[in-house]
Amino acid sequence: MININELNKKEAIYCSWGDTVHYNNPLKYFTSCNGSFMIDEKDIEYLDIQMAYSAVNFGYKNSFFNDKLINQINKLPQIASEYLHEDKILLSKRINDSIEKFTNTKGRVHFNVGGSQAIDDSLKLVSINKGSRGVFAYEGSYHGRSIGASSITSSYRYRNRYGEFGNRACFIPFPYIFRSPFPDDPQKAEDYYVQQFERLFESEYQGIVDFKRNETEFVAFYIEPIQGTGGYIIPPKNYFKRIKKILDEYNILIVDDEIQMGFFRTGKMWAIEHFGIEPDIITFGKSLTNGLNPLSGLWAKEELINPEKWSAGSTHSTFGSNPLGMSLGMASFDWIEKKNYEKEITKKGKYFLNGLKELKKKYKVIGDVDGLGLALRIEICFPDGRTPNKELADKIKNDGLSGKIEFNGKKYGLILDVGGYYKNVFTLAPSLEITYDEIDMFFELFEFLIKMNIE
Ligand SMILES: Cc1ncc(COP(=O)(O)O)c(C=O)c1O
Repeated sequence: MININELNKKEAIYCSWGDTVHYNNPLKYFTSCNGSFMIDEKDIEYLDIQMAYSAVNFGYKNSFFNDKLINQINKLPQIASEYLHEDKILLSKRINDSIEKFTNTKGRVHFNVGGSQAIDDSLKLVSINKGSRGVFAYEGSYHGRSIGASSITSSYRYRNRYGEFGNRACFIPFPYIFRSPFPDDPQKAEDYYVQQFERLFESEYQGIVDFKRNETEFVAFYIEPIQGTGGYIIPPKNYFKRIKKILDEYNILIVDDEIQMGFFRTGKMWAIEHFGIEPDIITFGKSLTNGLNPLSGLWAKEELINPEKWSAGSTHSTFGSNPLGMSLGMASFDWIEKKNYEKEITKKGKYFLNGLKELKKKYKVIGDVDGLGLALRIEICFPDGRTPNKELADKIKNDGLSGKIEFNGKKYGLILDVGGYYKNVFTLAPSLEITYDEIDMFFELFEFLIKMNIE
């Protein structure tokens, strides 16, 4: 068995804290995983309801993916990225096809390593097409922590102390129904948030438009269709269509960040498909490889990314087109093709959300629950049902990680992730392969943790 005390001593000396959030107290180690579960050094199983920030949508140790990876290791594990290999071309086509299906638009795919790098590439692409001007992004947005990505991520904390690299985005309020002036009326909330954005285009004195040249200071809008780290916030149905109308008038691009919500998290391949708009650029990462390889990328319309505009070497990374990642990307598409995810995830998601609604009725500290497919949220509040309660959310999370919850005569743990503007929201991203029994198990484990903390 690993010696946690000894490892902690070494961690305190040798490890930077800068590359991790270092939230958990005590620090938590895992030694293995399987399906929907992580397993610790004492062989205790933890039901994982966040799947590595939605990077492992198809389940841990999924043999379909592991076999493909091993096969690729034995065939062509590395290649310098100036050379080509079959899967790179075929995966690009499959991603293109999945997007062309709902946009009816031709485009191209570009790869890199990690979500933040894909976002940085998209910023370059916007710049090349529109000039180095500002972009809109949302309050509560998270697009990564490289210098470029943090300039469009809402937290000043991620930019503070790093100087003035790149343009800071203009942050627009996200349509957050529960915390809007109209929490019980989604239509009014939608109108309210659309009007707030519309107002910026009323006259030159709102600071956005030069009407004499018919130009805007902001040339692209970065969106997460469901806000991820911001708390799995689901916008009202027609909100994006109405925003897109305004953007079209001023030729402003939409960059759709699907890094967390893509690959059927919401019951559709791309989350934006729920909202009836066609983005100009789409970024993806995480579950593209079921979390087994840090491969990411972007798709863009042909007119933006054709080789005359976006010439060879516009970005480059040694591992950008790595064959292990490409074969895993192909495996994801093969896996999805075998499934009937749209139907299955919608059904499982409804079942999950109904259970959450039942819990909300029982416990006043649950202020809001919502979900789209298997992207679900639980907002923890004080008993008034509104005031955010970060301390309680942290306690529930830490107790889940203690691995001491009694279930069917055995001890288990529960892995929850806390997000949201006030760090009081459990952002639930279970494996898309989670069983109904495991969903029921979640309800029992979670209720145990709530009871333990409010009684
Ligand atoms: C929506 C979104 N964009 C970008 C990123 C950054 O991706 P990475 O952590 O791989 O750099 C994340 C990560 O959580 C994300 O959720």
